[in-house]
Amino acid sequence: MTILGIETSCDETAAALVRDGRTVLHSSVASQMSVHRPFRGVVPELASRAHTERINAVIEAVLNHRPETSFDAVAVTRGPGLVGCLLVGAVTAQIIARVRHIPVVGVNHLEGHLFAGLVEHAKLKPPFLGLIVSGGHTELVIFKGYGRYTRLGATRDDAAGEAFDKVANKLGLSFPGGPAIDRAAAKGNPHAINFPRAWIPGTWDFSFSGIKTSVVTYLEKTIHKGRVSIPDIAASFQEAIVDVVVTKTLKAAEHYGLRSLVVGGGVAANRRLRHVFVEEGKKRKIQIFLPDLAFCTDNAAMIASAAYYQLKHNPKKKNQQGMAVEADLKISNWK
Ligand code: KG4
Ligand code: ZN
Repeated sequence: MTILGIETSCDETAAALVRDGRTVLHSSVASQMSVHRPFRGVVPELASRAHTERINAVIEAVLNHRPETSFDAVAVTRGPGLVGCLLVGAVTAQIIARVRHIPVVGVNHLEGHLFAGLVEHAKLKPPFLGLIVSGGHTELVIFKGYGRYTRLGATRDDAAGEAFDKVANKLGLSFPGGPAIDRAAAKGNPHAINFPRAWIPGTWDFSFSGIKTSVVTYLEKTIHKGRVSIPDIAASFQEAIVDVVVTKTLKAAEHYGLRSLVVGGGVAANRRLRHVFVEEGKKRKIQIFLPDLAFCTDNAAMIASAAYYQLKHNPKKKNQQGMAVEADLKISNWK
């Protein structure tokens, strides 16, 4: 079964054709970075307008790349995300599904980030541990089976990506902050400054607002002395985040006897995080599944993949057409 996926929850307009949940036939992402960069953050009104301008071209790019391929369903992100942005995708998906008399499937964006780990990894089967580290979320879940998840913990304040973005802003680095810190950190010493780690013992929760405050305090204390090294601060900050995220996640995997881990979301593109996960995973005999860089940040292949498994495990949906499954398009939160 081939599914056309559509993703418009935040600042990437994306479409993809995916076969049987795992094989990406083509994926196209139109970034809005240039639109939001002057504001150092995503401006919701501008984001929904930009989606409206780009959605047709992105879908056409995918379909024109595979003119011989027909598709059996349309998948679209139903939330969480910016409402105006989600509506652009939802309306587009419903129109395509209606015209073609095929089902439309609503997908939870966070669930999508986990399925990014399944895309192109044919061997990966549940159960496994899932870590979502994105700009809006940091969640640790047990992926027991398709559609069956247990949430172990989440951030109590900022998401990991949000911390990267806010700290980058304070350091005067460009938007989005995560890739900018990744680049700056490559030239710095990760042990230059010992930023605090929030372990929150007895829980699988995370907290990243304390470290953000420490970076600001460190900057205020040292900047007038003229001794500030942005690469050192970036590397030390990144090291503290990576330390907590990797240590807690692998501890959870061991605690629940899970030998496979999927890491999804934009922060999964971080080079230091990827390296430490792979190294520590080897030591603990836990297999780490990291999506290809193109599928860490928002994309539509992960949405089409999640939709394939929804249809496969809920055959009733296969027989329904277009708006018949509109209940799925409710803009609801991760359950
Ligand atoms: O998953 P995503 O594209 O969107 C959300 O669902 O939020 O994640 C975007 C987040 C941003 O906070 C961005 O700064 C972060 O992912 N990010 C990174 C890297 N690339 C993107 N953070 C650290 N290192 C990176 N290389
Ligand atoms: Zn995302």
